[in-house]
Amino acid sequence: MSFWHDKIVIVAGGAGFIGQHLVQALLNAHASVHVIDNHSTGRALEVQPRTQQQLTQQHHDICTPTMMPKADVVYNLASPASPVHYQGDPIQTWKTNVLGTLKMLEHALDCGATLVQASTSEVYGDPLSHPQKETDWGNVNPIGPRACYDESKRAAEALLMDAVRTASADVRIARIFNTYGPGMTDSDGRAIPNFATQAEQGTPLTIYGDGTQTRSFCHVSDTVEGLMRLGMVDAAKGQVINIGNPTEVTILEIAQQINALFGNKSDIVFEDRPVDDPQRRCPDIGRAESLLDWTPQMKLQDGLITLHQTGQIRKSA
Ligand SMILES: NC(=O)c1ccc[n+]([C@@H]2O[C@H](COP(=O)([O-])OP(=O)(O)OC[C@H]3O[C@@H](n4cnc5c(N)ncnc54)[C@H](O)[C@@H]3O)[C@@H](O)[C@H]2O)c1
Repeated sequence: MSFWHDKIVIVAGGAGFIGQHLVQALLNAHASVHVIDNHSTGRALEVQPRTQQQLTQQHHDICTPTMMPKADVVYNLASPASPVHYQGDPIQTWKTNVLGTLKMLEHALDCGATLVQASTSEVYGDPLSHPQKETDWGNVNPIGPRACYDESKRAAEALLMDAVRTASADVRIARIFNTYGPGMTDSDGRAIPNFATQAEQGTPLTIYGDGTQTRSFCHVSDTVEGLMRLGMVDAAKGQVINIGNPTEVTILEIAQQINALFGNKSDIVFEDRPVDDPQRRCPDIGRAESLLDWTPQMKLQDGLITLHQTGQIRKSA
């Protein structure tokens, strides 16, 4: 019988891109899942009909108090993740990541649940070390336009580690690196959905900057497997763990790869680089490998081919 059989799991932010995949994986593993989401960037949950009866949902902003079911595991994924969204309402981003995380922590403490927090590689800012290990303290501009996200995620990590030290909270923090896959929307503003949408339309791909900046893209199936293991494996208790694919590519390379895959003959155009955009991003996943026995399985090329063949970028409403 799987670890998740008959477990009660809360997924805050379960209607979002990663959340929807996590919810389905938990349902498939026979957990009962309660989703809390204010649908600010999420959409109606789509789960396989055979698993529907294990699912309950609550339309709610995690910053405000509410009744939640007693749970075994709480996942906190609630937070906008794309710059267009988190910069669109920076104060709400702060509230969600600090006040909202506090509310989810308090609930996890009340029920003695494990809390898995979705943090981000953005806590490394424009990193000074390479690849990024969890011991890197980060190089973040605390007053720039990205700070509402980077710094509020860092504050959430600090808050949760205080709860580990002072309240023996069972907290596990995932520093998630760029994740892509089915269900991203064309208006999301991030590189892969942007490029794929432009290539599909046969229009020039837009690179912000000169394209030499690097990223490491992890398929959502791998990210979800990492998150599931964080919730299950005792060795993850009190740990901060990078979840990402260590294959590093330049933004120019990925644009060219997508153009080739989609048969797009249009040029690539270059526009101004966003303020505080990091130059290099690549996870050291040694900790995830040793503690979770986790490594990403999906090669970027294969993930992109599936994305193309199945047209899995969602059209925004
Ligand atoms: N996608 C990535 O590449 C990536 C990378 C690093 C970290 N993360 C983290 O993973 C998590 C999920 O990311 P995603 O890409 O699925 O983002 P997403 O925007 O698709 O999903 C976030 C979900 O949280 C919900 N939400 C936001 N604020 C809320 C609030 N106050 N109360 C209740 N619900 C709220 C949204 O409606 C949405 O359904 C986020 O915490 C993000 O910071 C994602």
